[in-house]
Amino acid sequence: MTTRISREEMAVQRDFIYKVAEINSKKSPPTAHVHTFGCQQNVTDGEKIKGMLEKMGYSIKDEPNGADLVILNTCAVRENAENRVFGNLGALKHEKQNNPDMIIGVCGCMTQQEHITEKIRSSFPFVDMIFGVNALHTFPQLLYEQLSERKRCVCVPQGDGVIAEGVPLRRESKLKASVPIMYGCNNFCSYCIVPYVRGRERSREMSDIIAEVKSALADGAREILLLGQNVNSYGKELGTSFAELIRRINALDGEFRICYMSSHPKDFTKPLIDAVAECEKVTRHFHLPVQSGSDRILKLMNRHYGREDYFEMIDYIRKKVPNAAVTSDIIVGFPGEEREDFLQTLSLVERVKFDSLFTFIYSPRKGTKAAEMPDPISAEEKGKWFRELLDVQGKIGGNAYNRYVGQTFRVLCEGKGRTDDNLLTGKTPQDVIVDFEGDSSLIGKFADVKIIRALNWALIGKLV
Ligand code: 5AD
Ligand code: SF4
Repeated sequence: MTTRISREEMAVQRDFIYKVAEINSKKSPPTAHVHTFGCQQNVTDGEKIKGMLEKMGYSIKDEPNGADLVILNTCAVRENAENRVFGNLGALKHEKQNNPDMIIGVCGCMTQQEHITEKIRSSFPFVDMIFGVNALHTFPQLLYEQLSERKRCVCVPQGDGVIAEGVPLRRESKLKASVPIMYGCNNFCSYCIVPYVRGRERSREMSDIIAEVKSALADGAREILLLGQNVNSYGKELGTSFAELIRRINALDGEFRICYMSSHPKDFTKPLIDAVAECEKVTRHFHLPVQSGSDRILKLMNRHYGREDYFEMIDYIRKKVPNAAVTSDIIVGFPGEEREDFLQTLSLVERVKFDSLFTFIYSPRKGTKAAEMPDPISAEEKGKWFRELLDVQGKIGGNAYNRYVGQTFRVLCEGKGRTDDNLLTGKTPQDVIVDFEGDSSLIGKFADVKIIRALNWALIGKLV
């Protein structure tokens, strides 16, 4: 069962924040470094950790060297993300030898897996705190206990997951605010570890989300990124929907952009596409992870759609939303994938013509269904297919931006140019980078920009 953390419990954590702040006020101000791995959801957890740390008197540093406290906020989605964390922990061992008072904590998705927690316990004895995603809001208490007792703590509550409102936040960007709308996932795609580490789907109350969006807009945010593992199923248990949520946010005053991630093609229904089309503030970028172009593999992946369903959805999007940008995620080398299946993926990519693709080689995750399936294709062969896919997409993506040339778009100006320091950079409603000449007073504002040239990763434009 989902647990909504009560106001009383959050008040207890606030008391611990004051207690730690009091300890810290008696010495020179301590420093903390938080390293976040993985997805946007983790980035918002990192923003919460930094928010709590600031309230507890820490100043946040970009580097671990010399910090009094280092937190690794980890990702478990693929093996290389986990290996990077272990590599970082190895480096911290030396740092701690120079500074034995340093506190080292590990949190995030990796810690929810028992075999990982065991490995950290036994192979990295210098790690002081291990806390799971359901214990994030109790970080002030855990840190207080750590500072007063210096005893190793492991706090990884299992269960379906919690919703904790009112955790302090320190946003990474003034212009772009990430707002979680739901946590967890119920889909159990057979390759994916997320449902095991993040628990069951649970939606925040719409009123809490709207209040957070309003406060971010009042603080100067111009892009609101709505986050969840599967945002399209927002609100089911509350009797509402994602379409309703974006309509409500779209109706708020002011010029700003609404983005969202991640989507699941099975829940990206026609009524939802209609809602997106109607809401002028919502991004014209559709990131719809297809994962494979083979019906046989999609079934083994437990994705609940086939390639024809996917085509129908993309055609409907392109009919309803002119200039839509479509991107996707693809996994190459799923267990049992054969050359024939991979060719189906290539043909889907050629048919859809994605603006860009995020491509991954399958990584077995302990505890998932796919990790138990026979996987006879060699890593070398999978690598060959992977490069073939990159080549095919490279040819398609290289021309994808030409269609924007000559059109004028409302662009959110984000800062100095990426191609040239004398230019400004911003994003079109399709989420495409555009550089253009303009005064720096435009940064943080919207402007009309006509596209005059397309590079293969960005656009060059001119203020209208
Ligand atoms: N191996 C490879 N890629 C994966 N993804 C998720 N789990 C795995 C895995 N075990 C990819 C999917 C997903 C993206 C965020 O990561 O493509 O959409
Ligand atoms: Fe993983 Fe599938 Fe859930 Fe996405 S929808 S988090 S891929 S299980």
